[in-house]
Amino acid sequence: MVGACTALWITSLAAAQSPREHLSLDVNWKFHLGDDWPDALHLENSGTGSGPASEKFSDSFWRTVNLPHDWAVELPFDWAADGSHGFHTLGVKYPTNSIAWYRRTFELPKEDEGKRIWLTFDGVFRDATVWVNGWCVRRHEGGYYQFREDITDVVHFGGKNTIAVLVDATKVEGWFYEGAGIYRHVWLDKTVPVAIAPDGIFVQSKFNNNIPQGSPEIKVEVSLLNAQTNAAKATVNCEIISPDGKSLKQFSESEMLKHKSQTAVKLETKISSPILWSPENPQLYKLVTTVSSDGKVVDKKETAFGIRTVGFDATNGFLLNGKHYELYGTCNHQDHAGVGAAIPDALLEFRVKKLKEFGCNAYRMSHNPPTPELLDACDRLGMLVMDESRLMGSDSANLKNWDDQIRRDRNHPSVALWCIANEQFMVQDTPQAASVARTMQDYVKQLDPTRPVTYASPEDNVFRGINSVIEVRGWNYHYGPQMDRYHAEHPSQSNVGTEQASVVGTRGIYTNDQSHGYVAAYDVVWPGWTTTAESWWSFFAVRPWLSGAFVWTGFDYRGEPTPYWWPCVNSHFGILDTCGFPKDVFYYYQSWWTTNTVLHLAPHWNWPGLEGQEILVEAFSNCKQVELFLNGATLGKQAMKPNSKLSWQMKYAPGTLSAKGFDAAGNVIAETKVETTGDAAQIQLTPDRKTINADGQDVSVFTVSAVDAQGRTVPVAQNKINFSIEGAGKIIGVGNGDPSCHEPDVFVPTVPERSVALDDWRWQLARVPHNRSTVPEYANDFDDSTWNKLNAKTSGGEATIKTPNTTAIYRVHFKLTEADLNGTGAQICFSGCDDEGWYFVNGQFVGESHDWQAQPIFDIKQFVHAGDNVVAVGVNNGVGSGGLNPNVTVKIIGHAGVLPWSRSLFNGLAQIIVQSTRDAGEFKLTATADGLKPVTAVMQTQPCTPRPFVP
Ligand code: GAL
Repeated sequence: MVGACTALWITSLAAAQSPREHLSLDVNWKFHLGDDWPDALHLENSGTGSGPASEKFSDSFWRTVNLPHDWAVELPFDWAADGSHGFHTLGVKYPTNSIAWYRRTFELPKEDEGKRIWLTFDGVFRDATVWVNGWCVRRHEGGYYQFREDITDVVHFGGKNTIAVLVDATKVEGWFYEGAGIYRHVWLDKTVPVAIAPDGIFVQSKFNNNIPQGSPEIKVEVSLLNAQTNAAKATVNCEIISPDGKSLKQFSESEMLKHKSQTAVKLETKISSPILWSPENPQLYKLVTTVSSDGKVVDKKETAFGIRTVGFDATNGFLLNGKHYELYGTCNHQDHAGVGAAIPDALLEFRVKKLKEFGCNAYRMSHNPPTPELLDACDRLGMLVMDESRLMGSDSANLKNWDDQIRRDRNHPSVALWCIANEQFMVQDTPQAASVARTMQDYVKQLDPTRPVTYASPEDNVFRGINSVIEVRGWNYHYGPQMDRYHAEHPSQSNVGTEQASVVGTRGIYTNDQSHGYVAAYDVVWPGWTTTAESWWSFFAVRPWLSGAFVWTGFDYRGEPTPYWWPCVNSHFGILDTCGFPKDVFYYYQSWWTTNTVLHLAPHWNWPGLEGQEILVEAFSNCKQVELFLNGATLGKQAMKPNSKLSWQMKYAPGTLSAKGFDAAGNVIAETKVETTGDAAQIQLTPDRKTINADGQDVSVFTVSAVDAQGRTVPVAQNKINFSIEGAGKIIGVGNGDPSCHEPDVFVPTVPERSVALDDWRWQLARVPHNRSTVPEYANDFDDSTWNKLNAKTSGGEATIKTPNTTAIYRVHFKLTEADLNGTGAQICFSGCDDEGWYFVNGQFVGESHDWQAQPIFDIKQFVHAGDNVVAVGVNNGVGSGGLNPNVTVKIIGHAGVLPWSRSLFNGLAQIIVQSTRDAGEFKLTATADGLKPVTAVMQTQPCTPRPFVP
């Protein structure tokens, strides 16, 4: 270790610019559903990816998409598809829908030469093959782990670069909707050769004995890469910035870095009177790490962190900052209405805020590593996190995934607990599973000594296998006396409810209806292995040693339709539906998980035809007593037991159902009512925020509703609403929370295509110039009638040129109509030319190919005309036998149709998600429907500095 630097020098370095560029690669990808190039991957030679994997491929007519992107959400539903994944036409039965290509080009300036270039994918569902400039740089299996490559060796500095990604979503990993495509962000990082390693900063605060008193030690470990062939001296300067933006500490260390090495530099300081992070007070410190070498700043990174302690105690349960802290948790999959798994960052934030509304303070990332921006949102908004691996395993690949996950996520103060796996029914009691669990748990302790580890166990009083070695015993369901027995028999093991409830309910529905796949939302329907909110919570609430639990689930998600199957395509477990609209049970949790005064009545009061019939009314409240009234007449006052709800069986009459809530002294502290409304008369659009940022990323989430002539929301409205937008925003998805709705969530314009098969070729051995020069045989009026015939259907795939170093010319005629020329483009698609070809259409050069495995595609619209057209190809067969493969088509591409967006209201509500463009200004969203007064919402989009991106 070399000595520390002077404070003055540190100040100037901290202010200095770093050569690192961390650039978003999210916009302007080209996308093609289906794999028409199954031979693109070449394992026999390097740098020879063909079809879309080749740099030369033309993707000009592919659709442009921005990331994150999930194509599964674009697919229709089919009862024969995989229901657990949401009945989208994806998977083994639908091969043409299950593989897709993405391509992106970008320029690298000449001045970047000497820098390291990194490409990072935060998550692709599912298997990805990545080429850069025709070089296959990565084959990645698995849909949830980040992967990254140093692509420096194969990029073109001072030129155009091409990334091609083949995504195969045929295989599933979970038993729930998982999406398809590049559904998380992609990044391009540029660093100089001495730089901070990816995920190379670890900052932790440590108090004596994990008791948050006095001044914590702030321990920082910075991993530095030296990609040079010579050793380098590097100095790491750290600055800690307080939550209110003041510089608190500066400290530094220097280290010699061996050539071609990674070196960890360790630093330490203390902070007095820290502000502790908690969900209620999510205060974030910032660590600014600046690295210098040879007197120049070589890298700089900012890392948000929090100062807090977490732990579990066998008697007192979960401890946050030294005190019992009840976990009011929910489990969630990554899936939202409209967008599927491709959730924009702002929508992640919207979801975390929704959960907080009913008191949720902990989020289980079930059953996979989260997207990093979700953790950022949890840090910022205050939400504890159980961070879960996808699979359990101590093989090198699984441990590498586990290692990556921990290193990536361990700076987040929100992450309070690691979970090695969920419900390993087949192996969990075996000694082998115990050993694997121990290995994964020990692994955590090496990389992250401050956080506990659990396993989401579906067993009751069983202390075998994983349960016998895991630090914190997790409980999926099985609540009840056996838990008390387990606790008595294993008094030194801590506990947490990793998964509870799984009660089912459809928002706004109050009777079970199998034909539509709906279930009553009173907190009364639950599958056999589960229980109601009231039952599990009443049990946990009085046992602090259980630490609280995670409800299955916060939000509904696609797939796992329970208890009914098709036409139901979604789960109903959520406290919120897929849009984040609350179900009645939301108010149960809000009553017992928050300090708000809550009083909510279910059901709604629009029941024409049920006059005089019995109806169940429930009150969700934390008031001491609740009195119910129908049209002003009392129906009685009832006392509320803690952690329960109240119910009245009564006869329905239209009008006003109202309630008053009383405190212990008998004062009215809350009032609420539900009214019988008139018919829907007008549409309303209500945004979640007043303005959004004009950064091309931010989203505005609009609630769409219908009100009657008196402005009251109509809870039974099911009108179909049409949407249009103008200005600085675009619609990215619609939803309504209906678990059985088969309307599209996205409206993708379709582009008509016509394929013309080119057949009846003529060919002849001939002299061929090895460049774009023409010869008489390429001319349209050349008479080829005496040449050999070659027909794609009858040729049998046999090579036409039998000897090496031999050339030949191939010709074919094809006809186009005037209408073909009115489209947006025409492409000629070859399926192979062995070994080199020079391609001409109507005597004009359109391109060349030099790889026998390539499947060249050329844009030819500018070279064709209505009537007869002629293609001529000069071919050189270098080695063996060869020639032109006569399987050739011309694709005529029409104009994209404009599809109007629409969605039906479901029990009064729908949702529309609008994303900003990068132009500050405003957008106007208009909603219309037959028989309803339309509405236009105007939203300002604020100028801002967008995240740096690759243009
Ligand atoms: C659990 C499982 C969850 C979900 C849930 C439905 O056993 O861990 O992923 O399937 O059941 O109730």
